[in-house]
Amino acid sequence: MGQGMSGFASDLTHATYESPDIVALYARPDGLQKPEETLLSQLRPSLGAMDMLDIGVGGGRTTRHFAPLARSYLGVDYSAGMIARCKAEFPAFSFAVADARRLASVADESFDFVLFSYNGIDHLDSRERTMALTEMKRALRPGGLMVFSSHNANYLPAIIDRFRFRIHGNLRETLRSLKWSGVFWGKNGLLQYRMPLAAGRVHDGTHSFRSSALYYVRPDIGVAELRRLGMIDIVCAGNESRDFVPGDDPRLAQDPNPWIYYASRKPERI
Ligand SMILES: C[S@@+](CC[C@H](N)C(=O)[O-])C[C@H]1O[C@@H](n2cnc3c(N)ncnc32)[C@H](O)[C@@H]1O
Repeated sequence: MGQGMSGFASDLTHATYESPDIVALYARPDGLQKPEETLLSQLRPSLGAMDMLDIGVGGGRTTRHFAPLARSYLGVDYSAGMIARCKAEFPAFSFAVADARRLASVADESFDFVLFSYNGIDHLDSRERTMALTEMKRALRPGGLMVFSSHNANYLPAIIDRFRFRIHGNLRETLRSLKWSGVFWGKNGLLQYRMPLAAGRVHDGTHSFRSSALYYVRPDIGVAELRRLGMIDIVCAGNESRDFVPGDDPRLAQDPNPWIYYASRKPERI
C-alpha cells in the first residue's frame, strides 16, 4: 500500500477529504454546534490570552468564530485541499497541512487550547486515536484545554434503523432502500452480533460510504480513555445540548445523542 504525506498508509478517507466536492461541502457550514457555542461563551473572556490549535479544521467552520478572538490561531488538516481553501478564505490566520497522528511541526506545550471538532478523530482506529490524543496532550501547556467530539455508540440502533430495508410506495425508493441496506450490511456484516457496542468501528454511510469505518464509543468509555491519558476535569455534552456534565455523571452511559463533545484539561505541573 502506498504511503501518504504523513508517512501513514494512504487511505480512502484521506482521498475523500481531498476531493473537491467534499472540500466544498465543508467550506459551506459556518454555524457552531450547541456545545461549541457554550464553549465559546465560556472561553470568550480568556481566549485573548490563549494560543489555539484547531485540528481537522476542514473548510474553517470553527476558524470564523474562534480565530479572531484567540491570541494566536493555527488550523491544521491532513487534507491539502482543505488547507488551501482555508488559506484563501482566512488570509489573516495560519494554516498548515499536518496529520493528527503525528503533529511533527508542533512543539511540545505550545498551545493553551486544542480543538478537534466534528468527529474528525473518529476516522482513526483505536490505536491511531490514542496516538492523536497523545499528540493533542503533548501540544498543550500544563493546565491547557483539550476539546473534541466523537460518535456515540448509544446512537448505533438509530443508524441500523436508518439502513433497514423498507418497501416504499414507489419502486424507485424501494430499490434505493434495497441498495443502501445492501451496502450497509455488506460492510457491517457482523455488527448485529457486536451490539450493544461499547466501542468500535462502524461504516455508517458518512460521505455515501466514501470513508473508511468510523469509531463509535459509549460516552463513559470515552471518558475512561481520557482518564487513562491522564486528563482531568473531564466534562461532556451531547451535540444537541448546550450543557456540559461531569465525566462521572452516571447518566452519560445512556446518553442518546448522535455524538458527544469531550472537554478536559492537562494537569498543571506540580
Ligand atoms: C468531519 S470534517 C470536520 C471539519 C471541520 N472541523 C468542521 O467542523 O467543519 C473532519 C476533518 O478532519 C480532517 N481529518 C481527518 N483525519 C485527520 C487526521 N488524521 N489528521 C488531520 N486531519 C484529519 C479531515 O480532512 C476533515 O477536514
